[in-house]
Amino acid sequence: MKEQLANIRAAALSAFEGAKSKVDLDALRVQYLGKKGELTAVLKQMGKLSAEERPAMGQLANEVRAALESALDTASKKLEEAALEHKLRAEAVDVTIPGKPVDLGHRHPMYIALDEMKEIFIGMGFTVLDGPEVELSELNFDRLNAGEGHPSRDWSDTFYFDRDERVMLRSQTSPMQVRAMDSMPLPIRIIAPGRVYRKDEVDATHSPMFHQVEGMVIDKGVTMADLKGTLNAVIKKMYGEDTQTRFRPHHFPFTEPSCEVDVQCHKCRGAGCPTCKGEGWIELLGAGMIHPHVLEMAGIDPEVYSGWAFGFGLERTAMRRFKIDDLRLIFENDVRFLEQF
Ligand code: PHE
Repeated sequence: MKEQLANIRAAALSAFEGAKSKVDLDALRVQYLGKKGELTAVLKQMGKLSAEERPAMGQLANEVRAALESALDTASKKLEEAALEHKLRAEAVDVTIPGKPVDLGHRHPMYIALDEMKEIFIGMGFTVLDGPEVELSELNFDRLNAGEGHPSRDWSDTFYFDRDERVMLRSQTSPMQVRAMDSMPLPIRIIAPGRVYRKDEVDATHSPMFHQVEGMVIDKGVTMADLKGTLNAVIKKMYGEDTQTRFRPHHFPFTEPSCEVDVQCHKCRGAGCPTCKGEGWIELLGAGMIHPHVLEMAGIDPEVYSGWAFGFGLERTAMRRFKIDDLRLIFENDVRFLEQF
């Protein structure tokens, strides 16, 4: 029996050590230590031993059981460690592999042109204002001298929110002139960029939504010469020193005298081409001396103060700046187009 126990011990220990997996190990546990296992089978024969032999053999059997159990435990831990090691190795992240590049967007060409324009005006001491796109018709029309019956108030031109024509999508950034006069101390030097809305069909030069940059100066002794000098300086800064401009007489209800300012066509340099519709010039903005009545309505004495105002079309400014010949490209958001700037 002693020999039997020694054999079981040796066989079990080497089997445990050689086990390849937890499943194998469990099978071995059953084989050696289970109820119908080899060790139990030997212990069952204890009854056949003499009373003197029994204690020593019992002790030996217990020792073998303890040795087997401890070896089983060690083998099991070893297998767990190996499994963990394997898992860690399989899941390892190589931090030295180069990452996937992320596509970064950039500013829209129209906003690049706007930022350039803002920079120029800020350098001249202007403040940039932001105003509401949903505006009172009182500020968009009445306070700007376009009273009842003015053609631009027609439903075919303007988006109203109510039957009373009280609230509308602003059709120009000029109501910002009124908001500035009502809220700022004199003298005033502001620009106000933003979206405006008119009922126009979309084509190469029109859109029901577009952008204007309104500007206004009010001070003592301000004249049309300041208006021309300032606008020429801004346009040359944007488009280059050799840029030609043309001031044409025009009519706006809120300025008197009024003018429109054109720049020479970038495509044909004045010769006439499809981009400028054969004119040689591209209209860029409206401007003029603020009408005395508009100053009076804001509580400013036109005998003491004078001022001028202008409104750039921002899309046109960007189109001239980047030599874009179709307005629709600005709004279509085709990245193949946008990536060129
Ligand atoms: N608001 C005018 C327009 O939309 C432009 C303008 C602005 C003219 C300021 C004069 C002064 O056409």
